[in-house]
Amino acid sequence: MSNITKPILYPGFKIKGDVIIVARTDKVYFTEIYSLSDGKYFYLFLSVKPNEVVDQKDKIELAKISSNGNDYIGAIVANHSQSQLVKIVDELTNLRGFDCIAGMRELKEVLIAEVINPLRDPERFKKFKVSIPNGIILYGPPGCGKTFIVRKLAEELGYNFVQVKHSDLATPYIHGSVGNIGKVFANAQDNAPAIVFFDEISGLVPNRQNLQGEGSHKEEEINEFLMQLNDAADNRILVVGATNFIDRIDPAILRPGRMDKKIYVSPPDFEARKELFKLGLSGRPYDKAIDFDELAEKTDGYSSADIIEGVVEGAARIAANMNDTAIDQKLLKKEMEKVKPVVEEKSKIGFSR
Ligand SMILES: Nc1ncnc2c1ncn2[C@@H]1O[C@H](COP(=O)(O)OP(=O)(O)OP(=O)(O)O)[C@@H](O)[C@H]1O
Ligand SMILES: [Mg+2]
Repeated sequence: MSNITKPILYPGFKIKGDVIIVARTDKVYFTEIYSLSDGKYFYLFLSVKPNEVVDQKDKIELAKISSNGNDYIGAIVANHSQSQLVKIVDELTNLRGFDCIAGMRELKEVLIAEVINPLRDPERFKKFKVSIPNGIILYGPPGCGKTFIVRKLAEELGYNFVQVKHSDLATPYIHGSVGNIGKVFANAQDNAPAIVFFDEISGLVPNRQNLQGEGSHKEEEINEFLMQLNDAADNRILVVGATNFIDRIDPAILRPGRMDKKIYVSPPDFEARKELFKLGLSGRPYDKAIDFDELAEKTDGYSSADIIEGVVEGAARIAANMNDTAIDQKLLKKEMEKVKPVVEEKSKIGFSR
């Protein structure tokens, strides 16, 4: 521990309201520790870029400050200890699991109550005769975070993640894909606990009513999948499927005890849209006066991909072409008009619960 470098902040520097810096008490790794006039402490992070931190709301009180033309981010904490400092820096820089999901509080609550808790403490749930899920289906409009959320769910559970696309299972041999389904589950079992994620699961297990020609072959695949699914929970495997259209999946898959948890992933809510703009802009030069509330208000119905890959990316490209300009409110709003929300009224009906 050394105090050799000059402190960035000086006594009397205002942190927020009438709280000011009293003195720098320490410097640990890339963090300066200051005592504050209200008895609390301020961690000033030198290695954490202000735009790359996702605001964790109630968890850690953050303050953005400017000194000598540089922007910094810091945390206000009640007490200081070395272990707490390490933990906070770690949390801010290595967000994992659900902390990375912007907004979507209801969805997270459903996943915690119906999936995470039962898998973490199966005995408790068995006592109450509540089933442990074998599988869940996430459904909803494209670009709203289904794939993203499954990855975060695996992180949150501390499970390995095996992703399977329907095209990965195809073989030129007539019964080949049935064998491949078995291999996927054998692989997951070797890596258990694991999430096996079938993206576009309606390709793998389509509604048998709509099948023509390839019927009997598909039938075999569906039966193999159902068999594997039955043993999943016992093997500490959680099967997750994603689809844009829930009614394209064979109803046998959705029966109780199978993939009976159907979870709707809606377009991002107000909070999520706000965070998505912050996330999209982080690391790019942007105007500090951006009104995130207004951006979120004006993008109801936009998917996450519309916001990040459509509006923000488009505005960034224009700003870059204009050279030396930061991305500002006007640019973002102009891009908004060009990007048609993926979720229009018409399709909303099809995705209702
Ligand atoms: N709540 C969120 N917080 C942060 N990032 C998000 C959130 N939701 C979505 N994203 C981001 O939005 C993009 C689109 O999400 P994703 O690809 O998971 O959508 P999807 O529903 O799987 O789409 P599709 O149906 O087309 O497969 C990803 O880059 C993801 O990182
Ligand atoms: Mg996807």
